[in-house]
Amino acid sequence: TYVVTENCIKCKYQDCVEVCPVDCFYEGENFLVIHPDECIDCGVCEPECPAEAIIPDTEPNLDNWLELNRKFAEIWPNITRKGDAPSDADEWNGKTGKTELLSE
Ligand code: SF4
Ligand code: F3S
Repeated sequence: TYVVTENCIKCKYQDCVEVCPVDCFYEGENFLVIHPDECIDCGVCEPECPAEAIIPDTEPNLDNWLELNRKFAEIWPNITRKGDAPSDADEWNGKTGKTELLSE
C-alpha cells in the first residue's frame, strides 16, 4: 500500500484523490489518508502530490504512519473529488514538526 505522511498536514492539496482508480482516500480536517486494505499499489498518486507526502510502505520507518492511515480511513469520509487546498498550504509545505497539528 501507499501511505500519506506528515507533509500532507495543513497542505492537503488533494491532487491525489482525482487520480486514484479505486477511490481509497479518506478526508480529515487538515489531512488525508489512504485505506491500506483498499489501495491496489498502482502508484499513480505518488507523483501527483505537490507535497511529496505519499510514500510506498516498502520504505523504512513508516509503521506509525501506516497505522494512522488505517485508523482514520475507518472513521473519516471517503473523498473522490479535489476541493480547494488551504489558502496557506504553500507556507506549510516542507515544514517539520507538523504531526502534532494533525486534527482528528
Ligand atoms: Fe489509489 Fe493507487 Fe495511490 Fe493506492 S497507489 S492510493 S490505489 S492511486
Ligand atoms: Fe495530501 Fe498530497 Fe493528497 S498534500 S491531500 S497527499 S496531494
